[in-house]
This record gives sequence, structure tokens and C-alpha cells, in this order.
Amino acid sequence: MSLQMQFVKCILCVILYIAVCFFLLKIKHSSYLIQYPVSLFLVKYNQTKQEYSVSQSNIKSINLEIELLEHDEMKGESINLQESATILQQISNVCMKYNLRTPLIKRHFLYNSEHKSMYCWIRKIASTSFTKLFADMKNRPPTRNYYKEVDSLTVRSLKELQLLSNNTKIFKLLVVRHPFQRLVSSYRDRIADNSKYTAQAWIYTEKIFRLTRPELFHSNITTGNFQQKVFTSDKRLKIVPTFEEFLVWLLQSSEKDDVHWTQYYSHCAVCNIRYNYVLKLDDYTYRQINYIFSKFGLDKNKVYFTTLGETQGGHTNFDTTCKYFANLTQDTVLKLHEKYKIDLEMYNYNVNYYMNCANKKF
Ligand SMILES: *[C@@H]1O[C@H](CO)[C@@H](O)[C@H](O)[C@H]1NC(C)=O
Ligand SMILES: *[C@@H]1O[C@H](CO)[C@@H](O)[C@H](O)[C@H]1NC(C)=O
Ligand SMILES: *[C@@H]1O[C@H](CO)[C@@H](O)[C@H](O)[C@H]1NC(C)=O
Ligand SMILES: *[C@@H]1O[C@H](CO)[C@@H](O)[C@H](O)[C@H]1NC(C)=O
Repeated sequence: MSLQMQFVKCILCVILYIAVCFFLLKIKHSSYLIQYPVSLFLVKYNQTKQEYSVSQSNIKSINLEIELLEHDEMKGESINLQESATILQQISNVCMKYNLRTPLIKRHFLYNSEHKSMYCWIRKIASTSFTKLFADMKNRPPTRNYYKEVDSLTVRSLKELQLLSNNTKIFKLLVVRHPFQRLVSSYRDRIADNSKYTAQAWIYTEKIFRLTRPELFHSNITTGNFQQKVFTSDKRLKIVPTFEEFLVWLLQSSEKDDVHWTQYYSHCAVCNIRYNYVLKLDDYTYRQINYIFSKFGLDKNKVYFTTLGETQGGHTNFDTTCKYFANLTQDTVLKLHEKYKIDLEMYNYNVNYYMNCANKKF
């Protein structure tokens, strides 16, 4: 074979190689485009009523969802995406079952346009850790108070949130935990922990004691007034309402719930925003966190995550929650079930275990 002939063959090889590369890249690119599937349910905005509604008609097959998620799985993280996909479907079903409308409140959502990431914070569910993550994404200096940071990390306007809510290119994360554990955790941190001032103890203790200890409001010169009896001079509690007392007030209260015990579905507008992934903090794995990092476009080799925040006296797990529930009647647990029914149903949380914790007084 002549030298010229060999040279031509070589050139042809190179051209073929480039063509194949182009073809593969194109395939890869188009599969990226369908990475975030279209909404499982269709959200409509009614201008007259200024409200969102969920359309009954448009349920996409969950299999498509799983297929697309498995595609992600092949890119390195092997986690069980089926569970999250099932929960997403369940959320959509419950929204329709009760015909729920959930308001969009921009302050509840952290958003980073560069990382195409959105997250709904829920207090006492690792919200500080995730807020820190979003602060890091914006290269903000570390702070001791991530509560305050929230305002600089949220979606800028309601309009923007409306656009994001149906933007399929944004990875939207929801993090939940058993509503009863979260409630006990909130009580311990916001009411019972009197080593610090909290706005919740300051505001709600008076309302609680009006129902449960009216005698505290009878005052004379020697005993002092209510505030002198109940609070120290630096506004910390001297007399702490018990968990039962807290619930007596909470279960009859008609005021808007504090963000520490509000229902997840309304706080995070789950019927109007199509989330991509639901992390259950009750039994999450390191792999799931890695998966979220990769979807947030973060380098998992950099350490972003601080340890999850602890309540004074330790993490609130099932055993701790059960101890607090041991002082409740089954009737109270039933009422709690009723109050958090939608969240319990959406994320498939069991109530029976907690019912068994309650003392059986009938
Ligand atoms: C919006 O709500 C109003 C009032 O209930 C209703 O009359 C109207 O038909 C609704 N519009 C759409 C597009 O659904
Ligand atoms: C998303 O929803 C907003 C407000 O309802 C609407 O104006 C916009 O056209 C929608 N965008 C897409 C991509 O559907
Ligand atoms: C003030 O109230 C306390 C407790 O209710 C009572 O024991 C005391 O006698 C009262 N003192 C006066 C001066 O009324
Ligand atoms: C339950 O009630 C008992 C008696 O009132 C109390 O000593 C205990 O601290 C309570 N337990 C919890 C976890 O609140």
C-alpha cells in the first residue's frame, strides 16, 4: 500500500471518529433536556380569584418519572429514587383528593439561579443546614444566625416564584420528617428550652397559661404580675408550660400557626409547586445527600454540610417523641392526627406507633 493511501485512510478514520463523538454528544444533550420531567399535575392560575388550582386531568405516568430518575442514577449515585417518586405521586393524589389550594409565599423558598436549585425551608427539619448550603452557593460569609440570612437567599418576587413553580429546569427539593417528631422538637426548642430567649415562648406562653393556669393572672403586690411570675428579667421562662399544656392551646387555637408547627403542605405550596425530590429526614442516607448535592450542581468532595442542628437535650427521635406522647391521652393524639392529617397522608407517615405511646385513659 502506498504511503498516500495510508494517509487518506487515517484522515477518514479521524473524520469518522469526530462524527461519532458528535452523535453521542447530541444524544447526551437531548437526554439532559428531559432530565426534569413535566409536571405530574397541571397548575392553573385563576386571575379573577387570584388563586391556583390543580387540574384533575393531567396525571403523567409515574413510570416515566421513575425511568427518568433511573437515568440520573446511572450517572453515579445509586439511591432508591422509587420512594421519592412514589411520595411525589402521593402528594399529587392527596392534593386532588381534598381539592387543596396552597398559597405561594415567596419568603419560604430559597433559590439559586446559577445552580438552578430551589428549596422550601421548614423549621426544625434541618433548615439551618440547607440555608447554610444556599448561603455557601452565594459565597456568603459564615454567620451564627441563618434565620436572618433567609431574606437574602429567597426568591425575589411572587412573580418570580410563579415562574419557577412550573419551570422544569429547576431542581426543587422538599425535606420532611414525621410531623409528630417535628412538633415535639419545636416544643423542646422553642418553648421548653429556657436557657435562651425565644419569640415563641415570649408570645405563646401567656396564651397557653390563660387556658391552663388562670391563677397565674391573679396578682397582688407580694406575688407580682404575670410577667414577673413567669419570665426572668431577660425574658426567659421561669415557669415552663408542659407539652400537654402547649397542645391544649395549639389544638383549640384558631390563629395562624407559627412556622415551627405549621403544616408542611401549605407552608411549601406542595399542590402548586412540582418538586423533584422529597428527602425524608427520618431515615436519610449519605447517598441521598450526595444525590441532592449533585442535583444542586455542587462538588460533593467539598464539605458543605454542617452536622444537622441539635435541640438541647439531644436529637428528637421516635423514642424521645414517644416519651412526650406518653403524657397525652389517645384523644389528644387523635386530634393531632386530625390537625396534621394531610401531611401524614402525603408522606405516608404512620400514626399507630405514636397512638401506642399515649396512655390509654378512656
Ligand atoms: C375563575 O374563578 C371565577 C370565580 O369563581 C370563575 O367564574 C371563572 O370561571 C374562573 N376562571 C377560570 C379560567 O377557571
Ligand atoms: C408558569 O406559570 C406562570 C404563572 O401562572 C405563567 O405565566 C407562565 O406562562 C407559566 N410558564 C410555563 C413555562 O408554563
Ligand atoms: C397575694 O396572693 C397570694 C397567693 O394568691 C396570697 O397567699 C397572699 O395572701 C396575697 N396577698 C395579699 C396582700 O393579698
Ligand atoms: C410527664 O408527666 C410527668 C408527671 O407530670 C412529668 O414528671 C414528666 O416530666 C412528663 N414527661 C414529659 C416528657 O414531659
